[in-house]
Amino acid sequence: MYTAQKPLGWGIIGLGKIAHSFVRDLALVPEARLVAVGSRSREKADAFAQQYAEDGQTPVTACDSYEALLALEEVSVVYIATPHTSHVEWSLKALAAGKHVLCEKPMAMTPEEVKQVTGLAREKGLFFMEALWSRFNPAVQKAIDYAQEGHLGKLSYVQADFGFFALDRDPDSRLLNPELGGGSLWDIGIYPIFWAYQLLGMPTSMVVAQTLARTGVDAQLRIDFLYPEATAQLLSSFATFSAMTAQVGGTSGSVLLHPRWHETDRLTLQTPERGIETEVFQLDGKGYTYEIREVIQCISQGRLESLLWSHQNSWELNSLLADVAESANSSGT
Ligand SMILES: NC(=O)c1ccc[n+]([C@@H]2O[C@H](COP(=O)([O-])OP(=O)(O)OC[C@H]3O[C@@H](n4cnc5c(N)ncnc54)[C@H](OP(=O)(O)O)[C@@H]3O)[C@@H](O)[C@H]2O)c1
Repeated sequence: MYTAQKPLGWGIIGLGKIAHSFVRDLALVPEARLVAVGSRSREKADAFAQQYAEDGQTPVTACDSYEALLALEEVSVVYIATPHTSHVEWSLKALAAGKHVLCEKPMAMTPEEVKQVTGLAREKGLFFMEALWSRFNPAVQKAIDYAQEGHLGKLSYVQADFGFFALDRDPDSRLLNPELGGGSLWDIGIYPIFWAYQLLGMPTSMVVAQTLARTGVDAQLRIDFLYPEATAQLLSSFATFSAMTAQVGGTSGSVLLHPRWHETDRLTLQTPERGIETEVFQLDGKGYTYEIREVIQCISQGRLESLLWSHQNSWELNSLLADVAESANSSGT
């Protein structure tokens, strides 16, 4: 078992946009060390490895295939940063190769696939977590604490939106290409849905309306989750920039997460007793450091899943995404 005596060796596969952001935060965590990067392109792997090798002290092995990275003994944890539709394939391959895995969101495109991956992780005795980084953001956590510790009374209202304009992107890009899991839902709708799920749990019913992009994937989704005594109003959009706020309210108060809420450093609590209070948090890096620390802590304690974002949480969130997609398609446009 890993014992935190020396930094844990990380390998990254899929050297796109998020891999660059992630690796900058990885460098801020002393218990982690980037040891290898894997790309389908030799040139890209070499350039990436060179860019992030820390002062030449830690050689970063550049692999021209993902398989080559999985074969390296020095890689203990693999961070999967490929498009959504290949997350399952590479999670299964990484686990089969004996690696712990942190896989970008969404970890799968169906709840059955979530079970397949998390089942293999348990069978192999390896750690697996979906990289739902907002779950570990300190301002988001504080808002959850206010809600769960009763400061807001009985919860009755949740709101969250996540929108940016992307309909002018290349139709072959992962955002719009159906073959790569395109559409706003699986890419960014996952965040508002996570927020409602985290605070209110599984809804009893939902109402979903969508518009479509020219490639046939969803362009925008208006999602209402209904609970016995609460409602959630959610927006996921590639058709507009949106306010990027999240709220939770109840019988005794409310919390607002400031833009961009999923990576925010501030919240505002409003209660009749306390008035309006804004709290600002000093973020460590861009905010990926928190999920990275969670992975390392879990592995050092021999845990196979996080208590904060468990396999069951991933399964339930994925089920909700699938239900929203089905509901959107059955309601027409
Ligand atoms: N947590 C966050 O804040 C956050 C932010 C953005 C994205 N994400 C997630 O991270 C994943 C990647 O997003 P991204 O924005 O980094 O995407 P991206 O810039 O398109 O990069 C994805 C990388 O995956 C590899 N890849 C493997 N098969 C591919 C294929 N068929 N087509 C295109 N690329 C392929 C490529 O790397 P090589 O050429 O090196 O093999 C590519 O550079 C997505 O699942 C997304 O949901 C998370």
